[in-house]
Amino acid sequence: MLRLRVTDVSIRALSPGFLATVKHRTIIEPFRIKSVEPIGMSTEEERIAQLEAAHYNPFLLRSRDVIIDLMTDSGTSAMSAHQWAGVMEGDEAYAGSRSWERMERSIQELTGMDHVLPTHQGRAAERIIYGQLGGPDKLFISNTHFDTTRANIEFTGATAIDIPIAEGKAPASEHPFKGDLDVVALEALLMQHKGHVGAVILTVTNNSGGGQPVSMRNAEEVSTICKRHGVLFLLDCCRIAENSWFIKHREAGMEGSSYRAIAQRMFALADGAVMSAKKDALVNMGGFLALRDEALAEACTNLLIITEGFTTYGGLSGRDMEAIAIGLEEVFDQHYLDYRIRNTTFLGDKLHALGVPLMRPIGGHAVYVDAKQLYPHIPPTAYPGQSLVCELYRLGGIRSVEIGSVMFGKYDPAGSLIPASMELVRLAIPRRVYTQSHLEYVAETFEEIIRERHKAIGYRITREPRFLRHFTAHFEPLS
Ligand code: F0G
Repeated sequence: MLRLRVTDVSIRALSPGFLATVKHRTIIEPFRIKSVEPIGMSTEEERIAQLEAAHYNPFLLRSRDVIIDLMTDSGTSAMSAHQWAGVMEGDEAYAGSRSWERMERSIQELTGMDHVLPTHQGRAAERIIYGQLGGPDKLFISNTHFDTTRANIEFTGATAIDIPIAEGKAPASEHPFKGDLDVVALEALLMQHKGHVGAVILTVTNNSGGGQPVSMRNAEEVSTICKRHGVLFLLDCCRIAENSWFIKHREAGMEGSSYRAIAQRMFALADGAVMSAKKDALVNMGGFLALRDEALAEACTNLLIITEGFTTYGGLSGRDMEAIAIGLEEVFDQHYLDYRIRNTTFLGDKLHALGVPLMRPIGGHAVYVDAKQLYPHIPPTAYPGQSLVCELYRLGGIRSVEIGSVMFGKYDPAGSLIPASMELVRLAIPRRVYTQSHLEYVAETFEEIIRERHKAIGYRITREPRFLRHFTAHFEPLS
């Protein structure tokens, strides 16, 4: 196994001959490695001790104790040589920075939205927009709110409702656009809560719903309905390039459009967009809020200045803004996106062949394992996803994240757990970081997971905070 991961890549335009290599069985990374970062190797005994010290919560593990880190694709990308060159070009002026001009222009051209507010990451943009639009009598509707989105909405006293299509909740269903929002339910909710809907949010791709794409048709329907009801339509667009790949390859009539043109067409349907640049902008930190409406943008700008920073940097350094502007171009490169999705599918297909129950079809940034089906002997109240997360670390030093009742479970007034609708474990693939052999190692670890599946045990929570409990909760194995 290669004992390195890539932190810096050199992307160059590949000749048209590269297209021929796509027919090969072997996926090649469309970049050469220029800088490497060593991986700390460990034994199973060491990992058992680390797991106990981390209270069986992978968020509390040290990165140096992890062999393959699939906890998130957020902020974990390898930047290109071009982006690193941009870092040196960063203009760190407090006001009117050249790097800000560049970032603003690249976002305006992509989104078609005039007002861009830079923030230090996605949730800062969420706090600003939902702080402005939220409040105790407000309702927000989404295909699925990501956890920070939901938390920022609920923090204002508002309610967040998820209405994915039915197929989106069935892990084995092969529907091509399981990220779609249920437009019939949307109509009904908008009628029922007239005057109280803060915004409708399409999360593309639908991260908490299995990384599944949203179709252009669905976005068009949502846009039309929102316009008819006079309700704001926002995109949570942090993986919009990956979503565009699925539209081009799965949606009739879209095959002739470029990935970027598809994204632009989707942005044209929305009133605003929130982006964590840590995903498809291929950077380690950053985000933004883009809006069409001037009055709303002005109100949000006040909050931006109070909590993030002046309008021409928000929470960002000039060098970060350069890297974002370049990343937003690179991510739409055909060869990059083709490799990116094939890379994720490579791992998914391997696990599928081993008989690992998965969220199907494979999404763009991650493979989601259906832990409920893998461990049918562990009830949701004993968190089967948490069990798998711990097993993956013990057997392979692989860090993953539970997306089930630990993350989304609630308590009823009597204190009993109301489980999440699915018990998933996410294996998120950082962009341009791990090679095919790293993913083969992950698949090999799953061979052992399958062999030992009947021995896996459940967990109980011994300590938890009020909001976003999965980050800091402590667990104990049930013996
Ligand atoms: N929206 C979506 C769909 C996300 O996936 C995330 C972050 C955010 C908003 C918030 O962005 O982290 O920059 O503040 N997702 C990460 C993940 C944390 O691991 O999926 P942020």
